[in-house]
Amino acid sequence: MSFISLSLLAGLFAYLSPTNALTAPSPATSACSVLTSSLGAKKVASSRLSLEYISSKQDYWNARQSSYKPTCVIYPEAAEDVSVALKAINAAGTRFAIKAGGHNTNDFFSSVDDGVLIDLGYMTAKSYDESTTLATYEPGNRWGDLYNFYQPYGRTVMGGRLNGVGSGLALGGGLSYLSPQYGMACDSFRELEVVLPSGEIVTASNTSNPDLFLGLRGGGGNAYGVVTKYTVQSRPAGKFFAGNIVYLFQHTDAVVDAVRDFTLYNLDPKASVMATYETLTTPDLNLNLDEVIILFVVYDGEDPGTAFANFTSIPNLVDTSSLRTYPQVTDMPVPLLAQLTRADNIFRMGVHHIETDTYKTALKNWRAWASANKGQYTYTSFNLYPVAKSLTDASKAQGGNALQMPDGPWLWSNYVLSTPPDLLNVTYEKVQASFRDMVAATPMATDLPLFLNEAAKDQNALATFSTYSELQKIKRKYDPDGFFETKTGGWSFA
Ligand SMILES: Cc1cc2nc3c(=O)[nH]c(=O)nc-3n(C[C@H](O)[C@H](O)[C@H](O)COP(=O)(O)OP(=O)(O)OC[C@H]3O[C@@H](n4cnc5c(N)ncnc54)[C@H](O)[C@@H]3O)c2cc1C
Ligand SMILES: *[C@@H]1O[C@H](CO)[C@@H](O)[C@H](O)[C@H]1NC(C)=O
Ligand SMILES: *[C@@H]1O[C@H](CO)[C@@H](O)[C@H](O)[C@H]1NC(C)=O
Ligand SMILES: *[C@@H]1O[C@H](CO)[C@@H](O)[C@H](O)[C@H]1NC(C)=O
Repeated sequence: MSFISLSLLAGLFAYLSPTNALTAPSPATSACSVLTSSLGAKKVASSRLSLEYISSKQDYWNARQSSYKPTCVIYPEAAEDVSVALKAINAAGTRFAIKAGGHNTNDFFSSVDDGVLIDLGYMTAKSYDESTTLATYEPGNRWGDLYNFYQPYGRTVMGGRLNGVGSGLALGGGLSYLSPQYGMACDSFRELEVVLPSGEIVTASNTSNPDLFLGLRGGGGNAYGVVTKYTVQSRPAGKFFAGNIVYLFQHTDAVVDAVRDFTLYNLDPKASVMATYETLTTPDLNLNLDEVIILFVVYDGEDPGTAFANFTSIPNLVDTSSLRTYPQVTDMPVPLLAQLTRADNIFRMGVHHIETDTYKTALKNWRAWASANKGQYTYTSFNLYPVAKSLTDASKAQGGNALQMPDGPWLWSNYVLSTPPDLLNVTYEKVQASFRDMVAATPMATDLPLFLNEAAKDQNALATFSTYSELQKIKRKYDPDGFFETKTGGWSFA
């Protein structure tokens, strides 16, 4: 028998076999057709050519997530739709993902290959109650949408430092420029509407399902249920003195010392700083064109006094500080370079006691890696986030959160790696492994929590929380059959 007829025969056999997709629909396909009839075709995109499907698939900050192909995308408009969807997905036994702003960089945290993508992007309602100063919003809003909405009331909500990030940020804690005053974004939660893995719609608050409320205050999204509405304490937003100060790398040590002094000595909770060391892959010709330090300074008020004096006294290329509204603060003109070009972007985290030098070692190791691996990436950065005592105090005063943050001051360090999209897998795996090993070999504090929002999945960030065993119990209680545990991505509770 010729080779061609052999393969024809094999193809025919596959066609006739009962496991073939043509004869028995896959779990994902059956969930999608059930959902098309129960939710209505308007709320389901099954065609890979539909504009909605394409935009849901394309819109991830880590372009790698766009390579995964959901079988269909559903667009809930209310908690009831999410409930119907979870029941159908569970019954079909298919994989799924929950997507808000699509900024998490980890594989399958908000993307799915061959499964149902629940895109919350159409749930964009929001409101403000002047008598209670409480704000409510649905999960499809980006922070920029919310900051713009609350601005005319002279208010804002606790959320991302860049306006394009999605609401899922607060479920992973949420670090805001206002955090030294009011704690993490999740500390301002007052009541959440949650669809449990069972499909039941419940309220999580201080008084209703308080354990679930604790888990959702920084213990991660897509673990205990789907949040369909947030009620939060809003915060005043007037004029801010804010900007970017840009330095050449010859000032690396001076800037890191100023970050240390700010972390240790600044006692004004209205002052907030983020330092980003950024490197492009272009060769280092000793012209310093491949490296730059961009400092973000934000002061809640018109006069920062001497809060940033240790930074402004270092010679700089440009200082854009000026008076801004809060929406303008989160849209600063010197964007992170990684925002400009579409790439495979990943995050890793470190955490440091300010009394040790491990953050300096981290910066040194990262710089050495960036220099030794020129050509392997398009962009990489190392970022320092001070965690002030006033932040951890504000968190405690509101009942604490899933991190039960030890008293500040201490420092989170964040690493970003951008590689060109569509790299061969073997090249991608190699550069990722090398970057991972560099971070893993860098000393860090073992008694402080990693930052969930910007940790890599293999860093097992939840296990660094002192509340981990409590979170495992909450997970078992609200996801008793392991539906979310086995069918969607996210942090491991094992
Ligand atoms: C450019 C950039 C800037 C950033 N700046 C900050 C910052 O200033 N502060 C900070 O804290 N973090 C920041 N981050 C990190 C960010 O918080 C995380 O990437 C976060 O996961 C993004 O949330 P999202 O809704 O955009 O993403 P998604 O990937 O859509 O969601 C994140 C995770 O939460 C789950 N999830 C989302 N919504 C729900 C819901 N309603 N119910 C249940 N699960 C849900 C998703 O399934 C997913 O696992 C930044 C990230 C980027 C890329
Ligand atoms: C600046 O740094 C010095 C130590 O070098 C410190 O004593 C001082 O308090 C810092 N100033 C501010 C405003 O943080
Ligand atoms: C409940 O919420 C308030 C903030 O509104 C907070 O102060 C308090 O500590 C929380 N916890 C309990 C158990 O009441
Ligand atoms: C490359 O990796 C992606 C994501 O892990 C996977 O979907 C794809 O099948 C891989 N391609 C090859 C050729 O191995």
